[in-house]
Amino acid sequence: MDRILVRGGNRLSGTIPISGAKNSALTLLPCALLTDEPLTLRNLPRLADVDSFGHLLNQLGCSTMIEGARPEDFGRVMTLRAGKVTATIAPYDIVRKMRASILVLGPLLARAGEATVSLPGGCAIGNRPIDLHLKALEAFGAQMETTSGYVTARAKDGRLPGGKIIFPVVSVGATENALMAAARARGTCVIENAAREPEIVDLCNLLVAMGVQIDGIGTETLTIEGTDRLHGATYRVMPDRIEAGSYACAVGIAGGDVDLVGANPADMQATLGALRDAGVTVEEHRKGIRVSSDGKLGPLTLSTAPFPGFATDMQAQFMAMLTKAGGASVLTETIFENRYMHVPELARMGADIQVRGRSAVVRGVDRLVGAPVMATDLRASMSLIIAGLVAEGETNVQRVYHLDRGYERLEEKLSAVGADIERVSDG
Ligand code: EPZ
Repeated sequence: MDRILVRGGNRLSGTIPISGAKNSALTLLPCALLTDEPLTLRNLPRLADVDSFGHLLNQLGCSTMIEGARPEDFGRVMTLRAGKVTATIAPYDIVRKMRASILVLGPLLARAGEATVSLPGGCAIGNRPIDLHLKALEAFGAQMETTSGYVTARAKDGRLPGGKIIFPVVSVGATENALMAAARARGTCVIENAAREPEIVDLCNLLVAMGVQIDGIGTETLTIEGTDRLHGATYRVMPDRIEAGSYACAVGIAGGDVDLVGANPADMQATLGALRDAGVTVEEHRKGIRVSSDGKLGPLTLSTAPFPGFATDMQAQFMAMLTKAGGASVLTETIFENRYMHVPELARMGADIQVRGRSAVVRGVDRLVGAPVMATDLRASMSLIIAGLVAEGETNVQRVYHLDRGYERLEEKLSAVGADIERVSDG
């Protein structure tokens, strides 16, 4: 198991390249199943979850070939080709390790006329059901059957007739599965109360490039005219807005001046607004976002919400940054029921945080002290790194495999701007 050691006290300055977005890559990859032609994705981040998804696609008959990186990209180029779908099941042992595997459901159903996925079960941040994914496919005309922990969706005569789903709750994944299922539907599919995250826009743009007609991209109502023959495409994955926001929080608490090259400010307005309200200087420019801070921050009141609101994936990182802000901040997590696993770990470093139901009150403290801490989920792990950047002494973050799922070359990127950080392998 690897650990990451951080010794606090250094200001950060220089340039951090922002990688391709994990949460976009994980919905663009399964689009390869929608056609027998090659799909080339550029700017793919080097992440454990991307590799795991590639292995799953291989098991379904889709080849994946890594090519070099293009100079203007930070990530890899991968060409995928599902000449023939040889299996239509995402098994339990894969889905339980990576919940995003359920995103093969829609494309497999669209391409092969049937798909079986294991029900994902819960994870650290909540029970995360997939009922909305299934409701959408049923609304588009699929026959659904759930037995012994698996759900199978079938399209009579191989193509969905089409239909309309009104989501009672905004769901990123359910919107993604619905879009991919609709891509080859015989009739029109309408998604109301669709998620509007930038990753959804990225997926819509790729599907359009593959020959699907989609109206309302970026809005809460998507109308999809599927096609029997999707063709291949070459597409560049959008930059990771959560990675960029995470490093901005690191600069906020540690102090310094860092250029987040490749970030897209348009995807992050709620995050940038919150940073400015806390006293961080944010300059948006053509190539990214420049963030600077003297480390002296004011309190915030923040509630997570679907895009364009404040992202739930930024809550833990802001909480870490606010542990040293003057006054008391109040963070409310409205999306997931258990996304405060980082609180007890931050408290071990001296943070003053009280969780009451869905809200956490963070009272700024003068000092944090380095300690051995445990990563529990992806964004919680990043909050511990952020706190470690200002904690006195050494912070020893264990179980960093959580981090490796969503942050490419983290210690390299932070060392390059002056952080005292290293990865230690326990063999
Ligand atoms: C995506 O998860 C992201 N993951 C998450 O990022 C992110 O936190 C989340 O969207 C919200 O923005 C990927 O894109 C791979 P949801 P997803 O469906 O699709 C409930 C990270 O750190 N719900 O929008 O699973 C659900 O329980 C990860 O990068 C149902 O009730 O999220 C939650 O309360 C963590 N039934 C809410 O909706 C369903 O069928 C939003 O979940 C589906 C979801």
